[in-house]
Order: sequence, then structure tokens, then C-alpha cells
Amino acid sequence: MLLLLLFAASTLLVVYLRWNYTHWQRKGFPYIEAKTPLGVLYSVVKRQRSFGMAIYDAYKSSKEKVVGIYLLTRPALLVRDAQLARDVMTKDFNSFHDRGVYVDEEKNPMSATLFALKGSKWKTLRTKLAPSFTSGKLKGMFGTIEETSYRMINHLNNILPDNGSAEVELKEISSTYAVDIIASVIFGLETNSFEDPNNLFYSVSYTANQPTFKSVLRGTCSVLYPNLEKFFVMLGCRDEASETMKDIARKTIEYRENNNVIRRDMLQLLLQLRNAGKINTDDNEWSVETAADAFKSMSVEMIAAQLFIFYLGGFDTTSSVISFTIYELSQYPELLAKANREVEETLAKYEGKLSYECLQDMKFLDLCLMETVRKYPGLPILNRECTEDYQIPNSKMVIKKGTGIIISLFGIHRDPEYFPDPLRYDPERFLEENMNYNPVGYMPFGEGPHHCIAQRMGKLNAKVAIAQILTNFEIEIRDKPTEIEVDNYSVVLVAKGGINVRLSKKKIN
Ligand code: HEM
Repeated sequence: MLLLLLFAASTLLVVYLRWNYTHWQRKGFPYIEAKTPLGVLYSVVKRQRSFGMAIYDAYKSSKEKVVGIYLLTRPALLVRDAQLARDVMTKDFNSFHDRGVYVDEEKNPMSATLFALKGSKWKTLRTKLAPSFTSGKLKGMFGTIEETSYRMINHLNNILPDNGSAEVELKEISSTYAVDIIASVIFGLETNSFEDPNNLFYSVSYTANQPTFKSVLRGTCSVLYPNLEKFFVMLGCRDEASETMKDIARKTIEYRENNNVIRRDMLQLLLQLRNAGKINTDDNEWSVETAADAFKSMSVEMIAAQLFIFYLGGFDTTSSVISFTIYELSQYPELLAKANREVEETLAKYEGKLSYECLQDMKFLDLCLMETVRKYPGLPILNRECTEDYQIPNSKMVIKKGTGIIISLFGIHRDPEYFPDPLRYDPERFLEENMNYNPVGYMPFGEGPHHCIAQRMGKLNAKVAIAQILTNFEIEIRDKPTEIEVDNYSVVLVAKGGINVRLSKKKIN
């Protein structure tokens, strides 16, 4: 009897799966056939490709504007056409206003992040948080960013010989810098992970980034099977990293409130939002005033959730921009010379002080950053969920509500149709007089109302580090230009074997 039941269940499962994998055929969309029950994620499960690279493979294997794919068992639509991708994220935002990832504000407040929240809840929070990322606020936090950059320079000075050069792995170093920036500028903690790599914040971030079976499973469920993630949470399975981050945030908030501490960081702005209902638009005013009715507009968990997503959003992306930029400059002597000259001349103009204004004046470095996030978009994919049936312009195809939308940012940014000679690192393609690309395809920070809220901060943090490295060290030109290989784990781009460059101390005249 048991055998019979098992047989019937397996037959039903096979029939269901077969039927499931005809989804796109039945809907009349071009599609990539699911050769195995894993769809386009076969290579990810086999640990041959990362998620972003598997989607890139799918992007390359088709020429259609849109193509139906299967992410494990879940049908999703890969939008290959950059104009349509833009429309989805901007003009037709009303039909695609969510990302469709796991969120459960009530049972798991730490999931209620700006990234995951839906509809009006997301919109209200986004409107409230936006004033924290203005250039005025960033200028206020600049001192803390600069201080962290000096710690990175000290560390490099300690590990490099006084004479001659040495190879350093830059990804690890820029990641430590990025963690410390987030710890200090976002969480308001005094950490120096270069000297004390065992500090709690650094350890939690290290754990959060380990691709263990559990973290991969939970991450996959959060994106592809949100209801399954809800079930895990219901069973009491919590994410340790996010719980520790919550504790850190709670203790810091309590300490600040009990001791009237005022610090120029993101936590301070969130406390303003919590106690006064809004962030003070006066860039010089960082104190926290409590509204007359003492209404707390945000719970501690809600604040911690935003701090945690700022950590997740800012950590790998920032360190990638720094390390990939230095790596690429080490392959192009003329570009490196130009970058060095600019840093030297601009610093001289500002009497050797790397101020906020001085950095704004380094225009060639801006072009380098633009080209780095073109060739290496920190997030190689963008995603949305269709929230209202949508007819694709000039076609009969209708995307049904609930369909997951995937955009291969890596694919579009490396497609010669949008960017000629895409593997060439060419910052000057962004100069108006040279513009040799189709700007429709350029969206390194996403597009539309969901675009990266901290784009300015991400660029600033990376630019400070790059300018500091150029100021203090000689970067040795590589003998043989080599393309970086992307590692087979992590949703964000991670270089296989790290990013190795040879540096030497600059001789001071
Ligand atoms: C150079 C560094 C960075 C890059 C390349 C980058 C890239 C991106 C991209 C591609 C998205 C998705 C946008 C979309 O779906 O349209 C995004 C969203 C987001 N990023 Fe960044 N990011 C960077 C730095 C940061 C930093 C430093 C933070 C936090 C302090 C941050 C916080 C966020 C958040 C909260 C979102 C979700 C916004 C929303 O849905 O409303 N990012 N980022």
C-alpha cells in the first residue's frame, strides 16, 4: 500500500513538473527549455556558476526581447531588451512596483527592509529615508569616511615593504574598509577591523557572507519561494546575522538615548525619523528632538532592518568598485597615469587636503567609477514582480500578475549592441564628445523609483578609497592583461581567487 502511494505521488509529481515546464509554451512566449528540473539554475546547483552568471548565460543564449526561463521550478521572464527593462522599472512602474521577495513585517520585522517592502509601505518608507542620502548629509559624514580611509592606508603601509613592491589581495582589504565604513557611518560604531578583525561587527558580517548550505537555502527561498521562507520563520528558524545586527542596533540606540550622544551618522538620522517623524533637512542639525506627543514612528526592529539592508546593499558593492577600479587601472598605463596626475594636481589645488570638495573635483575618477560599475555591476541582476497584468508594447504577449521579472544587468552592460568593445575598460566612453554607447543600456544603480537610494554614498565611499590608494601607492602595471573570472557563489560579483595587484609605497619628495 505504502509503495503504491509512493508510486502515485512520484507519478503526480512528474506529471506536475512536466506541465509546469510548459508554462511559457502555453502562454505563447519564446522560452529557454528547462532541460532539467532546475531550469537555468542547473549550473548554480552544480556549483559551476553564480546566480548572476547563470542568468547572464541565459541572456546570451537568446536574441529575443523577452524570454521565458525557469528558476528551479518557478517560471520567470528574462527581459533582454534594455528599453523594455527601463519601461518596466520607470514608465510602467505601476505594473511592477514590487520585487516580490520574502517580507513579513509582523512575524519577522527584520525582513521589512526598504528592499523587500511592498506597495504603499515601501513608498512611505522610501520617502522618509530619502533625505538621509542628500549631498549635504554626506558632507556631514565625510569626516568619518575619511578617518576610515586612513586606517586602510595605515594597514597597507604596514604590510608593504619600505622598498620594492608586494602583491596584495585588494578585495579583502577593500571589504574590510567597506565593513568599517558601514559600522561607523551607518551603525554609528567605532570599529577598526584592520587592527581588530575579531570585533563583533566584522565577525557578523563575515558570517553573513559565508555561502553555507543554510544561507544559500534561505536566500533562495526568500527570493524564489517566499511562502516557504515564511514557513521556516514560523518554525522558529531565524537568521543569526540579522538577529545579531538587531541586538547591536538596539544597544547602540539605548546608549545614545540614555547618554544624549549626537553623532553624524545614519543611525542618528533614523533616530530623528523615529522620534520626530522626519529627518531634519538642516544639514547642520544632527540632534534628535522628540515630537510633543513623543510618538515613536518606527520600532527599534524597523530601524535595525534598514541598517541591516544598508549593510547588505553597501558592503560588497562598495568593495567591488574599489578593487575592480584599481585592478583595471593596473592594466592600462595611460589611464593609470591620467588618474595619478589628476589626484596629484587636484590635491595640490586643495593644499593637500582630501576634502569633500576636492574629491568632487576629480572628474576623471568619476569616469573610472562609471566604467567600473558598467563592466562590473555590483548587482549583476535586477528583479521585479508583475503586480498588474501588462501587455508588452507592440506585441500580443501579456505578462500576468505575479510573474517574476529578471533583468541581466551584467548581460546588458557587456552586450556590444549597447557598449561597443564591452570588455575594454574605457572610462572616456562616458565623455560627451566620445559617447560611443547606447545610454538606454546603462543602469548600474537600477532605474525608476526603486533605484539605489544610496548611489551617492556608494560612489563617495569608493572614490575616497581609490583616491587614497592612488595618493599613497604606486600601482604596478600588469605584464599581461587578464580578464577577471567571476566566482561561482554569491549573488553579487565576486572575483575568483580575489583581486591581486602589486603595490609599492610612493616616495615622498
Ligand atoms: C557603488 C555602490 C553601489 C551599487 C553599485 C549599488 C547598486 C544597487 C542596485 C543595482 C540596486 C537595485 C536597484 C533597482 O532594483 O532598480 C540597489 C538598491 C539598493 N541599494 Fe545600492 N548600490 C550601491 C551602494 C549602496 C549603499 C552604500 C547602500 C546603503 C547605504 C545601498 C542601499 C541600497 C538599498 C536600500 C536599495 C533598495 C532601494 C529600494 O528598493 O528602494 N546601496 N543598489
